[in-house]
Parts: sequence; structure tokens; C-alpha cells
Amino acid sequence: MSSQSTSLLSDHQDEEDNLPLKSIPGTYGWPFFGPVRDRLDYFYRQGDLGYCRAKMAKHQSTVFRANIPPGPFVSSNSRAVFLLDAVSFPALFDTERVEKRDVLAGTYAPGLSYTGGYRVCSYLDPSEPEHATLKCWVMSVLAARHGKFIPLFQNSVGAFFKALEEKVAGEGRASLNDLMSPTVFDFVFKLLCDGKGASETELGQKGAASVASWLLPQLAPMIILGLRYLPNPVEDLILHTFPLPYFLIKSDYEKLYKAFYNSASTVLDEAERMGISREEACHNIVPQRPRGHDGLVPEHDEVDRGAGEQLHRRIRDEIRPIVKQSGGLTLSALDKMSLTKSVVYEALRIQPGVPLQYAKAKEDMIIRSHDAKFLVKKGEMLVGDQRLATRDPKVFRDPEEFIGDRFLGAEGEKLLKYIYWSNGRETDAATADNKACPGKDMIVLLSRVLLAEFFLRYDTFTVESSNLLRRITVTFTSLTKATS
Ligand code: HEM
Repeated sequence: MSSQSTSLLSDHQDEEDNLPLKSIPGTYGWPFFGPVRDRLDYFYRQGDLGYCRAKMAKHQSTVFRANIPPGPFVSSNSRAVFLLDAVSFPALFDTERVEKRDVLAGTYAPGLSYTGGYRVCSYLDPSEPEHATLKCWVMSVLAARHGKFIPLFQNSVGAFFKALEEKVAGEGRASLNDLMSPTVFDFVFKLLCDGKGASETELGQKGAASVASWLLPQLAPMIILGLRYLPNPVEDLILHTFPLPYFLIKSDYEKLYKAFYNSASTVLDEAERMGISREEACHNIVPQRPRGHDGLVPEHDEVDRGAGEQLHRRIRDEIRPIVKQSGGLTLSALDKMSLTKSVVYEALRIQPGVPLQYAKAKEDMIIRSHDAKFLVKKGEMLVGDQRLATRDPKVFRDPEEFIGDRFLGAEGEKLLKYIYWSNGRETDAATADNKACPGKDMIVLLSRVLLAEFFLRYDTFTVESSNLLRRITVTFTSLTKATS
């Protein structure tokens, strides 16, 4: 594997201390007008990444002050310090110095009605005692079911592949997102409900759609619909100007809640034993599913966007002999598939599921970028966009390229600490003291399983991808069945 450009990384204290202390560039403009102008730039005129890149270029800095949407009237304060490089971004993980209370969505918090009146785990700061209780419960639920991850997931993806083949054969195309959402919902439901399928409850086949409906008004202030016939100002008024009311999706949420409440008895018993009421635990279950993301899996069009057919060949040449020798797709077989693992990390690097992270400075603090130090004042909002931090050209060679073997070997492994998709470094574990996703190891494992299952069945594929609702949507246009 080619060498990575890690030489400029300023991880050493000595180097950091020599960095010049600079004032943070950037302004917020006039009250009300500044945030609204910036919101229009962010969503419509420049696009979210264009907005960040334009400001980076203007200020010649990856750390700067600017408004972060939505602004008026969804949030009363849209001022933030942006952290857009691999060195400054991890300040968002430093829970000693930053507060993560009610900042999951950013400068606004969807009403508590979306979660039954409870502040669920992801909205709690680790300094709040309920955070440790809830997070330890989630981690123990996952640990106790570790042995079921692979067989349950294989069971769920069986239906996915069947539907995928039928659609591609019949209609010439099939949406990965549409097919993956029910697959993931089915898996998570079975995992948390002792193997019972959601289709056996009153949710029927509508579980994934109900989750999407429940999420939409919460995410609305930060997404665009991209509908051709809806003028931008009208969309901006509907989505970004006032919070959407809970009653629009009340019945969807109530159905989800009821289905989990009636079926996740063991998980809820475990919560009660840890001092969490069944009601609070259940309201925590629904959000503890992939949020702002369809799957447990990175969008696999990245595999295609990269080296295409050539990378597909390398992946299947790795997977098939190992599965043959191991007599199946076991944990130890997966551990031997180093390219497959690297490909998964690369997908998580280039297209993280939850790109924006926020935190508030608990105290005056120094934040470092590659080339300067900045003083952030107590109470200031910090925001980082991972799609820029994990494409930092000073850390990753050809950062916009999908390089499947980027994380192979000793040099590649050194880069894992610059993958932040789980709200923590990939090399760090999720704990009760931090805000990293407790599902992180499961997500990586199941992404590897999906990739392996895919290339056991198919030699290659083609996809088209586009950006909708700030997410990549992927459509398969062909599948070539395995010939060996
Ligand atoms: C692809 C799927 C997933 C992605 C991309 C993802 C990503 C994240 C991120 C970025 C955070 C931090 C949010 C923040 O504070 O800014 C988070 C937190 C969390 N995630 Fe995940 N997650 C996924 C799936 C899951 C699953 C399957 C579970 C549980 C079964 C889970 C449970 C949690 C919990 C409990 C938290 C809150 C952690 C805390 O408050 O300390 N996540 N996740």
C-alpha cells in the first residue's frame, strides 16, 4: 500500500506548543439577517460543504466563526465555531472540556414529545448521572447479544438479496436505501425482541417507514428535499423556519413504541434491574437505532465509486477462499479478511452516517488545528463536519478518492484514529464517560458481514448514486452473479 502523508500531523505536544495563538477568524453578520443569509447559502446557494469550503478558503483556516443553520426561528442562536480538520475535530469528543447536553441535533433540540417526554441517552451529557445508567444498559444489552449479531443479520439480509435480485431483474434497477431500511429494522427488532420479527406485531411491514416518518420532522431543520417543483424559499419556510409539530407523526411513534414495549420484554427487564423504568427504557430504544442513516452499513456505492470492477475482484478473491477454508462466514473467517475490513473503514471515512457533531465549551479552552491554536470562550458552540475532517488532505492521501486498501498494514492502521464516524476515534472504545456510539463495533462487524455476503453472491455490480435529504441514495443498475 502506498504511504500516507502523516508527516504533517501535529500530535506531539512540543510541536503543538510552538503553534501560534491566533484569534478565530469569521463573523456572524447582522442579527436575524446574517443567520438567514447564511442558511440560504448553506442549503441552496453553496450547499453545506460548499459553504464550509468557501469560508475555509476566505479565512485561510479550518477553524472559523460562522452561523450554522437552521437559525431563526427554529434556533435562537446559530453562532458557532467550526472545526473542519482532523486535528481540531476531536475537541468535540473531549467531554472534560465540552458539554454535550441537548446538542445532538445542533443549535435546536426537537421537543421531548418525540421521545415520550424523556431526555434520551444521546441528549445527555456524561456529567448527568442518567447518562451512565442508560449507556451502561445499552452496552450490556449489546454485549449480551454479541453472539447473535452474525446469524441474525444473515437471516435479515437473506430477504434483502432476494428482493434486490428480483428488482434488478424485473425493473432494471433497485434502490439500496429502500431495501436496506426494512432489513436493518428487521435485524434491530429481532435483536432487541428475542428473535421476534416486527412483521408479527401490528407494525407489519411498516416499521422502517414509521422510523423514517418519526425522524423527518426532527431532522427537517437541517435537510433539503431537493424537489424540482418546490421553490427554495417555500421549502425553506416549511422546513427551516419553524419546528414541525409532533402530532404529524404521533401515531407512527406510538405504534413503534407499543411494538417494542410489548416485544422487548427481556431488554426491558434488564433495564428495570438497572433502575430504569420500562417506559424510559422503551423510549430510549426507538432512537437507539441508526439515526440519520438507513443502515448499520456504510453506503456501499463507495465500493463502486472507488476502483469499481478491479476492487470488486480483489474483495471477492479475498473473501471466497477464506470462507471455503473456514467452512462458513464465521467471526474468525471475517478476522482474516483484512481488505474487506479496510474497505468498510474507508466507506465510514468518506461517508460517515452522522456527519455533524456539536458541543459547547464548558470553559475557556485552547483548540488546535494543524497550524495554529485558538482560544474558544466558555459557552461557545462548536460544530464539526466529519466529511471534511475525515477528508483532511494533511492526514489522508487523495482524500476525495475511495481507496479500498487505505487502512491495510501497519501504516494504514495508524490512520484508524482519524476515523470519527462513531463520535469518537475508531481506536477508542465507547464508555459511560464519553459520547461515542455504543453500537460502533457491531456496525463495523455487520458492515464486514454484508460486504462478505455480497461478494459471495455476486462478482460485480454497478450503481448510480445521488444526494437526497443530505444522504447518499444508491441505486443498483446491474448485478453479476458469482461464477466461482
Ligand atoms: C450506522 C449506524 C449508526 C451510526 C452512524 C451511529 C452514530 C452515532 C453517533 C455519531 C453518535 C453520537 C451522537 C452525538 O452525540 O453527536 C451515536 C450515539 C449513540 N448511538 Fe449510535 N450510531 C449507529 C447505530 C447505533 C445502534 C445500532 C445503536 C444501539 C443499538 C446505537 C446507540 C447509540 C447510543 C445509545 C448513543 C448515545 C451515546 C451517548 O450518549 O454516550 N447507535 N451514534
